[in-house]
Amino acid sequence: MERRGLLRVALLLCLLAVCSGRELTSKHNPSTTIYNSTLAKILVEYAAAIYTADLTQLFTWTCARCGDLIKGFEMIEIVVDVENCLEAYVGYASDINATIVVFRGTQENSIQNWVEDLLWKQLDLDYPGMPEAMVHRGFYSAYHNTTLRDGVVSGIQKTRKFYGDIPIMITGHSMGGAMASFCALDLVVNYRLDGVRLMTFGQPRIGNAAFASYFKTYLPHAIRVTHAHDIVPHLPPYFSFFPQKTYHHFPREVWIHNVGLGTLMYSVEKICDDSGEDPTCSRSVTGTSVRDHIYYLGVSMHAEDWSSCRIVMDYSKLQYQMDLNGAAIRDLGSHL
Ligand SMILES: *[C@@H]1O[C@H](CO)[C@@H](O)[C@H](O)[C@H]1NC(C)=O
Ligand SMILES: *[C@@H]1O[C@H](CO)[C@@H](O)[C@H](O)[C@H]1NC(C)=O
Ligand SMILES: *[C@@H]1O[C@H](CO)[C@@H](O)[C@H](O)[C@H]1NC(C)=O
Repeated sequence: MERRGLLRVALLLCLLAVCSGRELTSKHNPSTTIYNSTLAKILVEYAAAIYTADLTQLFTWTCARCGDLIKGFEMIEIVVDVENCLEAYVGYASDINATIVVFRGTQENSIQNWVEDLLWKQLDLDYPGMPEAMVHRGFYSAYHNTTLRDGVVSGIQKTRKFYGDIPIMITGHSMGGAMASFCALDLVVNYRLDGVRLMTFGQPRIGNAAFASYFKTYLPHAIRVTHAHDIVPHLPPYFSFFPQKTYHHFPREVWIHNVGLGTLMYSVEKICDDSGEDPTCSRSVTGTSVRDHIYYLGVSMHAEDWSSCRIVMDYSKLQYQMDLNGAAIRDLGSHL
């Protein structure tokens, strides 16, 4: 009798484990091979750190956002395109033995304005070398047609020269996620680098269905993390009645949202299907929240100052090697 009781308890525990394993990504869930939530918690902190206004703090890795999970990081290069107010950094993460590449999101006057503007973005550029693939020229150019591309690639090459052929983890939040995506694809297609991994947070759509399909071929393990009602992943809009003409996300989305009520609320990381536009993920809710856009995995993505391009104001404090295009590439070691 005693025995049977125990067995029943064991069985019940097993069932509970199976059930929760399906919802929450537990160790025994095969989805951990698709989405690594430990890695996500690390990368989101790197993505947040780039919103630090003071570049000295960022460079010396003493910023308030240079959080607990990401100690032991060595900055290799901060790339700033002063003219276009864009920023990225490249460095080495000793605890995960990887190159980290982070792009900064929008710096326009207010995030609300930027979001409104996203409603009207056209698919207005043929992606080079990929028939039928169309992308948004603004997002494409922010990476390809500014000094960011050269700066980031040179930072990656330096890091790999020092530390060997380690994985390259590319991340970014919001528009930084869009640029991170173009960068990852560029590194695989044009630079033929291996070990390129992409995980973005709250990024907008960047291309059409044909583009998404190429993207999936080249970066089959890419992850787009979305959060609850975050408005940005809903933009530019997806029109299901024009499947060939509309913007279309690349896979794979991981939608983080709360379920339950009141004190029984808990957070679920839903691994979405490989279509890029899983109707049961963030598309199942209306994208109405700017607040959900600013918080990812409990980390605030709020820029210290949205109102101006602080990079320009701060850069006089540091000595940069300015190139003719207005890019400021931090000269390593010259005054630290
Ligand atoms: C997830 O990522 C962490 C940090 O990079 C790593 O230590 C761990 O082994 C990874 N887990 C899986 C299942 O790949
Ligand atoms: C890149 O910039 C140049 C000069 O501003 C411009 O003529 C060209 O059309 C841009 N290319 C793309 C793809 O936007
Ligand atoms: C990091 O990875 C590279 C390439 O796999 C390897 O050669 C190197 O020994 C690793 N470094 C550390 C500190 O684990």
